[in-house]
Amino acid sequence: MAIGEEAIVRSELRWAAVSIGVVSLIMLALIYAGIVHHINPPSNIEPIDPKTLHLSGEFTEANLGTRVSAEGQVTSRIVATQFTFQPRCIVLPANQRVTLRFATPDVIHGILVTGTNVNTMIVPGYVSQVHTVFTRTGELLMPCHEYCGLGHSEMFATLRVVPASEFKPDAQGRVSCDAR
Ligand code: CUA
Repeated sequence: MAIGEEAIVRSELRWAAVSIGVVSLIMLALIYAGIVHHINPPSNIEPIDPKTLHLSGEFTEANLGTRVSAEGQVTSRIVATQFTFQPRCIVLPANQRVTLRFATPDVIHGILVTGTNVNTMIVPGYVSQVHTVFTRTGELLMPCHEYCGLGHSEMFATLRVVPASEFKPDAQGRVSCDAR
């Protein structure tokens, strides 16, 4: 028995409505996660000139490492170069939202914090930014995970996650590994 043309059109329209519904739901979920929970794809597009990043702005040597702003926001800045991270050790408080910012003056590097979901590429020309909360205290290794040359395997830094009670910024809001 032949199916009427009208029935076919109705069926197609129904399926079209279902697909539009699914796509809309996913879109809404993405917008909700982005706006309410600040969960975004790692696509923080923030250009920076790799040739001058060490001369002025936030990635000069004096600005590297962990700093607490007047509003209490904890930010750590690291420069990745062939073949070291600068600084090689940073301190961050546990159970508190922190921001990590990375930049490189030379080639593509990567960094991950072992045992956590922090993992980003560091691409010349852009600032890589990660927001996270570290729930366990201790020393965590942060190796470079992007082959960047002969010294790649020697390229790593250490993250010291301390309890909030041991996280004591100095007068400039800075906290460093050797100050303890
Ligand atoms: Cu830097 Cu591998």
